[in-house]
Amino acid sequence: MTTNEHTEALKVTDTRTGRIYDIGIVDGAVHATDLRQIKTGNEDFGLLSYDPAFLNTASCRSAITYIDGDRGILRYRGYPIEELAEQCSFLEVAYLLLHGELADKAELEEWTDTIRNHTFIHESIKKFIDGFHPDAHPMGILVSTLAALSTFYPDAKEIFDDDRRKSHIVRLIAKIPTLAAFAHRHAFGLPYAYPDDDLSYPGNFLNMMWKATELKYRPDPALERALDVLLILHADHEQNCSANVMRAVGSAHSDPYSSASAAAAALYGPLHGGANEAVLKMLAGIGTVENVPDHLARVKRGEIRLMGFGHRVYKNFDPRAKIIKRVASEVFEVTGRNPLLDVALELEKRALEDPYFVEHKLYPNVDFYSGIIYQAMGFPVEMFPVLFAIGRMPGWLAQWEEGILDPDQKISRPRQLYVGPEERHLGLAASSRSR
Ligand code: ACO
Repeated sequence: MTTNEHTEALKVTDTRTGRIYDIGIVDGAVHATDLRQIKTGNEDFGLLSYDPAFLNTASCRSAITYIDGDRGILRYRGYPIEELAEQCSFLEVAYLLLHGELADKAELEEWTDTIRNHTFIHESIKKFIDGFHPDAHPMGILVSTLAALSTFYPDAKEIFDDDRRKSHIVRLIAKIPTLAAFAHRHAFGLPYAYPDDDLSYPGNFLNMMWKATELKYRPDPALERALDVLLILHADHEQNCSANVMRAVGSAHSDPYSSASAAAAALYGPLHGGANEAVLKMLAGIGTVENVPDHLARVKRGEIRLMGFGHRVYKNFDPRAKIIKRVASEVFEVTGRNPLLDVALELEKRALEDPYFVEHKLYPNVDFYSGIIYQAMGFPVEMFPVLFAIGRMPGWLAQWEEGILDPDQKISRPRQLYVGPEERHLGLAASSRSR
């Protein structure tokens, strides 16, 4: 028998050899590397765990975000998302995610001022944006310009220098709204509207998006607050696809701009941050409430997915979706009702009553309503994932920083189960190729 010094252990019998092993359990998990001692002989590499898409593998220890998918709980640094969305600003939440504690008044003022001081981007970045086709997707522009920023800050490679690292974290949070708004204005052939540091973080973003000939843009306070809440709801979501990419690229000690660009590329996908865009396209395609049953029938036949429904972690309800419904009604009071809302409400109602969706534990996720709100606020559909990226930036950075400073971490490099051909030689095949 092979034993490890652990108070809690998993006793496993290898039926190939009859040997019994005690595999230690720490924090409710076994170390995958402990399985390597389970071998059939000296030549055997040792047992691997096979877990495509990390369905049951913890890739890190993290103190940032807690999710209980069955109970619909989401907390940043211990604080429930409902309380943060009700009482905090997005920059306050960003501070919390990155520092582990809420800022006091003086700390928050300093943090807000520092972010405000870094909202401008180098004029040369505008030239990159100018080079894109007018119909270039703003998410593609965002991914590219985030990566381009790294060339303007060569010292961003000094990721283990605390002051430098923190200064680039600030820059990324400060500049992403500017990149995002400039990408939008390029598509519409509009002159770039520069940041206005008198305004709040969401207010300034609205200014850079919509400012026209007025000397000073004044955001509608209800829309400004709604956007702030939406950013809070998207600020982090533990080891989601893009956070995992951020950590993986960061594990090679790449600079934070390159890592954030890769994370944004992951977010671009329709199964992740592209979902809110896909929801809107789906709702527009359905068109009217009468067409909802047909659409649901196609989903049930497996022809299409119901976008904005389902989640890898939440199998009961997505707490963010509940908050977002409230935000929706506040926004519609200012903007008027989005006609697609009726289609969305009908879809939700019918799906929640339908045994297929109940059995598959499919509920609206955060993106089911966010797109309808963004559209009512005037954002083009292509900007939806970009808005998500602005919100997610503090989360990516907190995950990245935690990852690179974690002594348990190494360069991210999974194993594989090789299923290709056994060794073979060119021989005849080579001579027939040369003919
Ligand atoms: N519509 C219809 N059926 C679905 C959906 C859906 N949206 N989501 C899952 N299912 C079904 C699958 O067909 C599968 O059925 P089966 O077991 O009969 O084969 C079962 O539910 C499990 O689906 P998986 O794809 O294995 O679930 P997973 O956890 O891998 O997927 C995901 C999660 C990607 C979010 C999925 O639910 C999906 O594609 N949803 C639509 C896209 C979306 O809204 N994404 C946004 C996610 S939230 C975010 O990124 C912020």
